[in-house]
Amino acid sequence: MLKKMHKALKRNLPKSIVEILLVLSDLKDAFACAAFLFQKELPISFLQRWQLIRSFYRISARVDSPHTQREILAYVKTILSIPNGMKGVVVEAGCFKGSSTAKFSLAADLADRELVVCDSFEGIPENEEEHGRDIFGKSAGFAQGTYRGGLDEVKANVSQFGKISCCRFIKGWFDDTLPQFNEPVAAAYLDVDLVSSTKTCIQYFYPLLQSGGALFSQDGHLPLIIQLFQDKIFWQDEIGITVPMVYGLNQRKLIHIRKS
Ligand SMILES: C[S@@+](CC[C@H](N)C(=O)[O-])C[C@H]1O[C@@H](n2cnc3c(N)ncnc32)[C@H](O)[C@@H]1O
Repeated sequence: MLKKMHKALKRNLPKSIVEILLVLSDLKDAFACAAFLFQKELPISFLQRWQLIRSFYRISARVDSPHTQREILAYVKTILSIPNGMKGVVVEAGCFKGSSTAKFSLAADLADRELVVCDSFEGIPENEEEHGRDIFGKSAGFAQGTYRGGLDEVKANVSQFGKISCCRFIKGWFDDTLPQFNEPVAAAYLDVDLVSSTKTCIQYFYPLLQSGGALFSQDGHLPLIIQLFQDKIFWQDEIGITVPMVYGLNQRKLIHIRKS
């Protein structure tokens, strides 16, 4: 109900008003954005930080955005902090309509990195996953075809609001496309909802992740994803390492691991 009202408001009000409402409706996001403006350790100017924040709200007011600005900022800061000497592209797996892609592409451009975007562009695949309730007590489920954004639609949004010149799109189901992907990865961001999809992404991206690189999952609130990140047998048998330290596990949606 609230979601529907939110969507109707978003469609009908002038976009500049929607942007202001977005700032007021999530003060945690607004504070995180304000803190970002003063993060002097990042290798970009105050003006560039301000322009990023302006763009993020501009994009959220115009494109469906199932994420918070805090989640986006966490990855943006990681992208901007990748040491010059570290090889590798930055990856986004799961882009929906391209709102997160447009935001990440602006950071990737500033960091002079290529952003590789992997998605079916057909939404969530067929699945029988039972997610039950997430750590916040909300019931979760992901029907086939939800979160669909066509490749042309995503490209149009990224062209309009982000930096399409630094993006490469890999279209198809992860099981089909990722086995062919074989290049250094400096950072990866997974927002793919299903545990099967997350598993495939970890299997193919983690071995390519450079030492010091980070892998994020925006699905850390889902019990099946928590189980996967804690699954000793998965990490041992499929990845060849002991269970890694997972920052934020059992506390928030956005979790990450850093490769030593
Ligand atoms: C929640 S949406 C991503 C939202 C996006 N990050 C944002 O914030 O706007 C999940 C995405 O994962 C993609 N996806 C999930 N499982 C997949 C799979 N096995 N292969 C390809 N794409 C998949 C869906 O197509 C969808 O675009």
